[in-house]
Amino acid sequence: MSILSIATTKPAATSADSLLVPVTPGRGKKVTVHAEGVTSAQGAKIAAALQAVGATGKAGEVTPIPAPAGFKAASVVGVGLGDRRKDTSGEQLRRAIGNAVRAANGKRKIAIALPDAELATVESVAIAARLAAYTFGEFKSEPTSPVTTIAICATDADARAVVERAETIGDAVAFTRDLINTPPNALAPADLAAAAREAVAELPVKVKVWDEKALEKDGCGGILGVGNGSSRPPRLVKMTYAPRGARAHLALVGKGVTFDTGGISIKPAANMDEMKADMSGAAAVIGAMRAIAALGLPIKVTGWVPAAENMPSGTAQRPGDVLTTYSGTTVEVLNTDAEGRLILADALGMAVEESPDLIVDIATLTGAQRIALGSRTAGVMANDDDAREQVVAAATTAGEAMWPMPLPEDLRASLDSATADIANIGDRLGGMLSAGVFLAEFIPEGQPWVHIDVAGPAYNEKAAYGYTPKGGTGAGVRAFVALAEDLIGE
Ligand code: BES
Ligand code: MN
Ligand code: ZN
Repeated sequence: MSILSIATTKPAATSADSLLVPVTPGRGKKVTVHAEGVTSAQGAKIAAALQAVGATGKAGEVTPIPAPAGFKAASVVGVGLGDRRKDTSGEQLRRAIGNAVRAANGKRKIAIALPDAELATVESVAIAARLAAYTFGEFKSEPTSPVTTIAICATDADARAVVERAETIGDAVAFTRDLINTPPNALAPADLAAAAREAVAELPVKVKVWDEKALEKDGCGGILGVGNGSSRPPRLVKMTYAPRGARAHLALVGKGVTFDTGGISIKPAANMDEMKADMSGAAAVIGAMRAIAALGLPIKVTGWVPAAENMPSGTAQRPGDVLTTYSGTTVEVLNTDAEGRLILADALGMAVEESPDLIVDIATLTGAQRIALGSRTAGVMANDDDAREQVVAAATTAGEAMWPMPLPEDLRASLDSATADIANIGDRLGGMLSAGVFLAEFIPEGQPWVHIDVAGPAYNEKAAYGYTPKGGTGAGVRAFVALAEDLIGE
């Protein structure tokens, strides 16, 4: 069911529980109403009422007032946009709309007046509103009451397609967030594989699933090694979207550790519950497949999801074990908590066999990523400078914070193993980079590849902000849609 719609009525004539009206700081202590379809007399009335309760128009401010006479909505909300000249990517606008929509949760229907009639503005407002209306109530006895209808006041004939696109992308991000937020007892590797099928059930995407026997037969020692400690066996999922007239081939690979205890190299108890989000990369790949196929983009996309639960038990792998990965490279497991790279090694090994134009993997791979870049900015590494820049640029367009990081060759020596071809841990300093250098081992010369570490950005353990809720964020989905569009020159 779609949440977004278009209202062709003027904002004042649109019925809603709440009408969101964009405002910016004006001269002195005044605020200026910036709303398409709102007359200057109506704008002056709203501005006066907002000023009376202390609104300033600064970015992110949300100020509810009773609707002035002549408005059909029950209440009006001033949405502070701040200085619009500073908002080059639209992210300030998206966050402002996100704050206001989140504050309206509990209301059923909201309407939004646009700050201007540009289609890029319609797009930013629509996606932010859709993402901010997200809630996860599946495991609550009392139902939550999210916003159910968001009407965007737009008269441009092209606005409808833009809003439909935002709904499609927003729905895919919500699917991804749901998977991340699902408790780990309810999401074993087999459930993640089933979710991948469900995500694209009505779309032209083929799904193939390897069970533990098939993984054994194909020599996926990395996925099997990590999965060994769990009573719930591992899986590998391949999703293929190959539309006629595809102009490029993109492969997406996502880490799907449904729960990461660390294994025998067990993690401390504090915040271990957050390791239910260790399948966020997988969830982003599944969400991106759903969005790209639903949009019908003319690009072949192959999604790879290696899924395992990293548990300590009598059958778990030990520090010191040597695994043979899909490509034949042997790995000495010096720390069972560096498990993401083991399952990615097999999936990357399979992905490279198809020689796609670009492989991008996404993973909650290292705590070091959060130390280096914080909890909101992903680290992007690659064996190809242009490809890395392309991914960072696509992410920025979509409103996702990603930043380029190097893969220093000198770190390779720290991964040397006395027993196997490579060890699964290297230098602790620059731990995000040594993990990337490990993955690079599984990419042949000439195969463009980008690695995104989303250990921080995938999961928001703090308070909600802008259009980002607490919990799973859906990091990667919008960036992948933008990347696919860039690869086909749209
Ligand atoms: N899933 C974790 C990384 C992680 C940590 C993600 C915190 C999100 C928040 C990963 O499997 C892991 O445990 N990495 C180890 C690697 C180390 C043993 C080389 C880490 O970062 O400590
Ligand atoms: Mn781990
Ligand atoms: Zn992990």
